[in-house]
Amino acid sequence: MLCLPFAVVFLLTTYAVLPSCGNSSLGCNEEERQALLSIKGSFKDPSLRLASWEGSDCCKWKGVGCNNVTGHVVKLDLRNPCYLQRDQGYFLPNCNFYKYVLEAQHIHPSMLQLKYLTYLDLSGNRFHNSTIPMFIQFLEYLQVLSLSDSHFSGRIPPNLGNLTKLTFLDLSFNALLYADDSDWISQLSSLQYLYMSDVNLGKAQNFLQSLNMLPSLVDIQLMNCGLNNLHTHQLVRATNLSRVEVLNLAENGLQSPFLDAFQNVSSIIEMEISFNNLNSTPFWLGTCINLVNLYGNNNAFYGSLPSALQSLTSLISLDLSENNFDTVPSWLGELKGLQYFNISGNDLNHIEGSLAYIFGNCCQLQILDMSRNNIQGDALGSYIQSGCTRYDLMQLDLSNNEFNASLPAWLGKLENLKYLFVYNSNLVGTLPCDMITKLVNLERLVLFNNNLSGSIPECIGQLVKLNFLLLSFNHFHGVIPRSLEKLVNLQYLDLSKNSLNNTIPLNIVQLKNLTTLYLSENSLHGIISHSFGQLLNLKNIDMSTNHLEGVVSDIDWPKQLAYLNFTNNHITGSLPQDIGNRLPNLTHLLLGNNLISGLVPNSLCKIDSLYNLDLSGNMLFGKIPNCWSATQGLNVINLASNNLSGVIPSSLGNLSMLAWLHLNNNSLHGIFPQSLGNLKHLLILNLGENHLSGIIPSWIGNIFSSLQILRLRKNKFNGTIPLQLCQLSALQIMDLSNNNLIGSIPHCIGNLTGMILGKKYSNTQPSEGPRYDEWYEQDVKQVIKGRELDYTRNLKLVANMDLSNNNLSESIPEGITLLSALIGLNLSYNNLSGHMPIKIGNMKSLESLDLSHDHLSGPISDSISSLTSLSHLNLSYNNLSGLIPQGTQLSTLNDPFIYTGNPFLCGPPLPNECFVDDSHHGNEDEDGGKVENFLFYFVIALGYAFGFWVVIGSLLMKRSWRCAYFQYIDESTQRINESWTIYLAKIKERFM
Ligand SMILES: *[C@@H]1O[C@H](CO)[C@@H](O)[C@H](O)[C@H]1NC(C)=O
Ligand SMILES: *[C@@H]1O[C@H](CO)[C@@H](O)[C@H](O)[C@H]1NC(C)=O
Repeated sequence: MLCLPFAVVFLLTTYAVLPSCGNSSLGCNEEERQALLSIKGSFKDPSLRLASWEGSDCCKWKGVGCNNVTGHVVKLDLRNPCYLQRDQGYFLPNCNFYKYVLEAQHIHPSMLQLKYLTYLDLSGNRFHNSTIPMFIQFLEYLQVLSLSDSHFSGRIPPNLGNLTKLTFLDLSFNALLYADDSDWISQLSSLQYLYMSDVNLGKAQNFLQSLNMLPSLVDIQLMNCGLNNLHTHQLVRATNLSRVEVLNLAENGLQSPFLDAFQNVSSIIEMEISFNNLNSTPFWLGTCINLVNLYGNNNAFYGSLPSALQSLTSLISLDLSENNFDTVPSWLGELKGLQYFNISGNDLNHIEGSLAYIFGNCCQLQILDMSRNNIQGDALGSYIQSGCTRYDLMQLDLSNNEFNASLPAWLGKLENLKYLFVYNSNLVGTLPCDMITKLVNLERLVLFNNNLSGSIPECIGQLVKLNFLLLSFNHFHGVIPRSLEKLVNLQYLDLSKNSLNNTIPLNIVQLKNLTTLYLSENSLHGIISHSFGQLLNLKNIDMSTNHLEGVVSDIDWPKQLAYLNFTNNHITGSLPQDIGNRLPNLTHLLLGNNLISGLVPNSLCKIDSLYNLDLSGNMLFGKIPNCWSATQGLNVINLASNNLSGVIPSSLGNLSMLAWLHLNNNSLHGIFPQSLGNLKHLLILNLGENHLSGIIPSWIGNIFSSLQILRLRKNKFNGTIPLQLCQLSALQIMDLSNNNLIGSIPHCIGNLTGMILGKKYSNTQPSEGPRYDEWYEQDVKQVIKGRELDYTRNLKLVANMDLSNNNLSESIPEGITLLSALIGLNLSYNNLSGHMPIKIGNMKSLESLDLSHDHLSGPISDSISSLTSLSHLNLSYNNLSGLIPQGTQLSTLNDPFIYTGNPFLCGPPLPNECFVDDSHHGNEDEDGGKVENFLFYFVIALGYAFGFWVVIGSLLMKRSWRCAYFQYIDESTQRINESWTIYLAKIKERFM
């Protein structure tokens, strides 16, 4: 929002000169001095703001002002120095508000002794929800009373009306303050400034009438006052508010008729009616010919822009963002003084006369935001007709539209343009040199996520003022232009996710101001021999998913680097052992899926800033360093799929912020380390595919209360599955397969609520720790892997349990059937006995069920036929008996191998007929049997036809595939919906 310097420098001008502090030859009145000392005594004053309040001449005390003739204290200014006047932006930047707060239980009654006060400002302090004292009415000379943001509560005392000399009253931002009557306001006949924002006026039914009796009012601030609860607006026929220059009615839930009460405010200069439910502008708006600033954003306006605006030729700032306007009329071009126009977040699909036409007239426009609409390419227009002698436009945001068109050539006329944002807008075509080379003042060119194609032209090197160039997520191909070296002001270069090939130009290291260099997901190749070390400002570098080569220890990094991502390339060599000294500021070290060998450097333990360490999918060997310390904020460690050996180091337990720990697919041995019991925030623990032994400790269940994935498969764990695991209420994937576990499956297994539909534990992500560019890392993650089991924080769709290949015995607990979110259940290759769970049909999500190679007996539970999602079933090699249940889904699972090795099973799809016991079956069944016999041969025939698909199908339904699949689906939608918004938000933050 533009904040034009507005004429409310009232306090500074009128009052600052009034008491000439300290000049008094009279000294101060002793009674008043004592009162001031009592007031001082009532305050907690940690920053010693009142330190000067000692000695005899109270007129010299800070914040105290005396009349130079009578010597009486006339001014008391205890405003928090961080808290500015309204028109100055409220808070002083980089000022610690809370440090300077004075705290008292209430306003001390000694205040009453200062009876000549004309000026009292206690704003930005804390009065502990006390009420505004009644006695304040006796300070009858008060002209200025400011109690803003000071934690006053309760009813505003109506006797404030006795302060008839008041010209300035500020009670705003005391959210517990209310008025249930407002006659007292009507008595303040001198009042010019009334600030009541955030005070509840919803019960003061006669409020508008009272306002109407204050003809001196100049500035009215009534933001968030609950004014929608007033029903009196019909009663105010004509208002006397003819001097009002500033009116703020924002955040009141107002409907349009309410504004009728403010007709005749034709002197108004600034009006803020944003964040209401207005669907039409007030009928009197057209009379406000002095209006300079109009903020009507976040309402329910619709249709074409209101024609009343046409008369407002003084308008400089117009914010109508976040409404439902669909049309910009051509007369907008007649508002020739307009400098700021924001109509983002509407439904614009029509611009009368085209955007080019509007530009041809609004020569003074500096900022235009039309992002997040439905503007099509034809609304852009092809050329600017009338033409200004110069165009002041500096910022143009057309992002998030549906152009389906190329960048219009007339943009080239906007020679003062600094920021051009057209991301996410389906731009097509190429980057035309004849247009962009005219934009010689361009500093930010942000065109990511479009369908731009062709090469990135060499002429881009002429835009020497560029500091942000974002062309990622397009279809640019060819080489990275060598002319980039001329863009010496470039700070942020993102060309990722295009089809750029060839090598990275060596001269890129001449861009000395670069902080961010993203070239990921292209087809870049060549050896990295760049002296990145020269880029003394570089903080983020992402070259992931290319074909880059190079010896990791030879690459020259700048010391201040924080985000380093070379995932998914062909980097070789071993990590420099002193990497922790070379890159002491790293937050992300992402070198997964390369060809790096050698040891994991001990010096990584020295990097306290490290947040994400991913060295997975390399050829690292040796031991995992055992020097991790509690000062490190690591959230993610991924060392999976290397050749690491030795034991899991106990010092990992010092990393109390750790959320993801992947050590799977190495050659680690030893027992499950006790020290991991400190990792209370763990979400993923993946120790699978190692040589770990000993028992699974029962404390896991008590400590890892947020754990979502527990993966211990393919180790040598023995002993029983501890009952305490049932307490892992967030667990969605439990894979204990391929170990030597004995005993029974815990009967409490049904308590794993993370595996129950509708009972999903809300994914608590670690709240602490740096959030540095994490969106980007996530972005990369889903692309790079998929060759190994790969997880994301998004596990909404996957719940799986695999206990196969152990020595588990006894029967399958019936409670397991509560786990209705399970997609896969594998209990095969154990010694499980007894019956199949009767209610297996309750596990509605099951797609894959493997109970093969156990000792299950009795009939197959009939309810199995209600598993409508089941696409992979294996019950082979048990002692199941009886008729195979039939059902819609089961009839598609017609491969006899599903049931093979159960000699007493009968009926289709097995060839052996069931012996029909006549004493139990009637004729209908016999008939049914005949039909079944007939069907059997038919089904066998089908079985051969589909056998191929059964095998392929079961392969496909393997969990790893499914994880990758769901992750892909989930992430790709997620990424578009969320990452972009975050990305955009971040970019906006950085740009604006
Ligand atoms: C007292 O203050 C007034 C108002 O600030 C000023 O005009 C006047 O000159 C001062 N008188 C003396 C004696 O300082
Ligand atoms: C003031 O009241 C609010 C709301 O009732 C309460 O949350 C807050 O703790 C109170 N503050 C003090 C200092 O009593």
